[in-house]
Formats: sequence, C-alpha cells, structure tokens
Amino acid sequence: MNMLFTQTQVGPYPVSHRVVMAPLTRMRTDAHNVPGDLMVDYYAQRASSGGLLISDATSVSPLGFAYVGAPGIYTDAHARGWRRVTNAVHAEGGRIFLQLWHAGRQAHPANIGGEVPVAPSAIRAYEHSAIHDESGQVVEVEQVVPRALALDEIPGVIEEFR
Ligand SMILES: Cc1cc2nc3c(=O)[nH]c(=O)nc-3n(C[C@H](O)[C@H](O)[C@H](O)COP(=O)(O)O)c2cc1C
Repeated sequence: MNMLFTQTQVGPYPVSHRVVMAPLTRMRTDAHNVPGDLMVDYYAQRASSGGLLISDATSVSPLGFAYVGAPGIYTDAHARGWRRVTNAVHAEGGRIFLQLWHAGRQAHPANIGGEVPVAPSAIRAYEHSAIHDESGQVVEVEQVVPRALALDEIPGVIEEFR
C-alpha cells in the first residue's frame, strides 16, 4: 500500500499526507532577524491543506546565530513576524512547526553583536558560519574558539527564550 498520501498523526496533530517540508535555513530575515514579506510568501507557497512544514532553524537567544539573516524568536518583533508567516500557512490549510535552536559554538561573533560564542566546552567547530563582509556580501567564514558556559549560566540560555 502506498502510504505517502495517507493521513497520520504527528503527536496530537492530524496531517492528511506524509510529505513534510524539511527545515531549511534560507537567511531571508530583515536586519533584526525578523521574518518579513519574503518569508511570508516563501512559506505560504509551500503550504498545502493538511500538510506540515518545518521552519528555518530559529534562534532562541541573541547568542544563537550561525548564519546572518537567520530568524529569531526571542523578541516581540520576532513573534509578530512569525505570526504573519503562521497566519499565511494556516490560510492555505497547512500547519507549521518552528524549529528552535541555539547555534552554540557554531555561532559567529559577527552575527551576535561581537560576543564570543558560548558552548559546553571551549572547543572550536570545524564548520562554517555565514556573515556579511564589509561590503554587505554574504561570505562563509571559519568559526572561532567558543567560551565554555559556567554551570550557573546554563539556565540563562533557556531563560532568554522564556
Ligand atoms: C540550504 C540548507 C539549509 C538547511 N537548513 C537546515 C535547518 O535550518 N535546520 C535543519 O535541521 N536542517 C537544515 N538543513 C538540512 C536539511 O533539512 C536536510 O538536508 C534535509 O532534511 C534532507 O536530508 P538529507 O540532506 O540528509 O538528505 C538544511 C539543508 C540545506 C541544504
């Protein structure tokens, strides 16, 4: 039996087929990491009745950005931007889950106000971050050695999100 176009449940949520859009960082927010018109259109175009989308990885903290132009969800402006996206998806009959993340050591100082990224240990990641260079072009750069979080700082990572 072909299961792909049959309904199922994702936790408490019914979906009418199993074609789910994977989370894809598109780096399309405004300068404050707020989703705008471009993202409203992008997600509305991909929404379908009974379908499920998973959003771009979305930072829960000002220190959580690996990619310039990635979305956040820790200010009222972020929430308002995402509300426009969810309204557009719901208008198409679709459902969307927000992928929450904190980039940890994959964050880059250029994307987090010049701060040193925080991580469980002060060990560099050997991936790349995407930042704006001096001319505003997006370029890939190596990550830096992060700062190890102190034990008493760990709850603050979550507090920033609440
Ligand atoms: C441009 C691009 C952006 C991506 N962004 C995310 C992301 O924000 N969150 C995530 O969990 N995965 C992300 N991924 C991974 C995709 O979700 C993944 O490639 C997809 O699930 C297909 O899996 P596969 O690459 O193992 O075949 C990204 C992949 C690409 C190519």
